Amino acid sequence: MKEFLTVKNLIKNYGDFCAVDNLSFSVYEGEIFGLLGPNGAGKSTTMNVITSLCDFSKGSVKVDGMDLIADNEKVKRIIGAVPQEIAIYPFLSAEENVKFFASLYGLKGRELSEAAKEALEFVGLSDRAKMKPKQMSGGMKRRLNIACGIAHSPKLIIMDEPTVGVDAQSREHILNSIKVLRDRGATVIYTSHYMNEVESICDRIAIIDHGKFVACGTEQELVSLVSDSRVLKITTEFPSDFDRDGFIGGLKKLPDVKSGRLNENEVALELNRSCRDFTMFLERFSKQGLPVTGISSESMNLEDIFISLTGRELR
Ligand SMILES: Nc1ncnc2c1ncn2[C@@H]1O[C@H](COP(=O)(O)OP(=O)(O)OP(=O)(O)O)[C@@H](O)[C@H]1O
Ligand SMILES: [Mg+2]
Repeated sequence: MKEFLTVKNLIKNYGDFCAVDNLSFSVYEGEIFGLLGPNGAGKSTTMNVITSLCDFSKGSVKVDGMDLIADNEKVKRIIGAVPQEIAIYPFLSAEENVKFFASLYGLKGRELSEAAKEALEFVGLSDRAKMKPKQMSGGMKRRLNIACGIAHSPKLIIMDEPTVGVDAQSREHILNSIKVLRDRGATVIYTSHYMNEVESICDRIAIIDHGKFVACGTEQELVSLVSDSRVLKITTEFPSDFDRDGFIGGLKKLPDVKSGRLNENEVALELNRSCRDFTMFLERFSKQGLPVTGISSESMNLEDIFISLTGRELR
């Protein structure tokens, strides 16, 4: 497989603060590559470096065999960016916005009109072509933001949390369309805090934290990194004044427990795979008068793996 993007020993400092710390990874041509990390991990900074929106301190970035610095103009021409912060003009219509961004890449005349039409269709905004962003809902603006980034048919598409605030139906439409772009040959880098999105569309995933590389691979490869763990999920109903942190803290001290977290009324415990008897966990619940309304023992999913490797929740 051909490496389409190669990031090598990338360092980005903001003053004394190191936002990207010696990060290396490669993205293959024609894949959807997920970049996962908690808030502040350095995902947007990395993407902004690749799209030339910010400079970097050390390291190298190669896109389609070209050096980001030496061949900057050529590299920029084949990249399409969908930034985390929405970047569209409020007083231009949806169609005018898309045309404006695509024209920056040299599209004009009929080619430009066709490209704008297709991009609006891609995000399901064809019937809003004449609408201005100031009349649009937050989700529609997000979708227009995506259309502006992809209209010029870039070879490398960088999407930074493109579906925040987009409703479930439009999200499904966008995710399917991203797969279509990949199937047509585009390479996509994708960040999201929605694990199910990353699981459903990404061919490979890199996890970063504190600007550093943590792990990379297909979901199956990441699962194998934690193959000695399983996760036990117990649902209960906590009284409103209950000391949840103290309770979880107690569970984490029990033998075989590697980590634990709380998701509303669900307690998730990462256990040694060899642990087969869950009685001592259930006893803790009954001692506190907590009902057990559900229990399941599962292999680790992407979210469990992420928390196991970084020790942190996604948000
Ligand atoms: N212009 C800036 N000046 C100083 N520090 C910055 C700047 N931009 C980002 N940072 C810091 O760099 C770190 C990485 O930020 P970045 O936006 O890349 O994180 P992220 O992984 O995209 O997080 P999120 O999931 O919240 O979008 C953070 O600690 C952030 O505060
Ligand atoms: Mg970000």
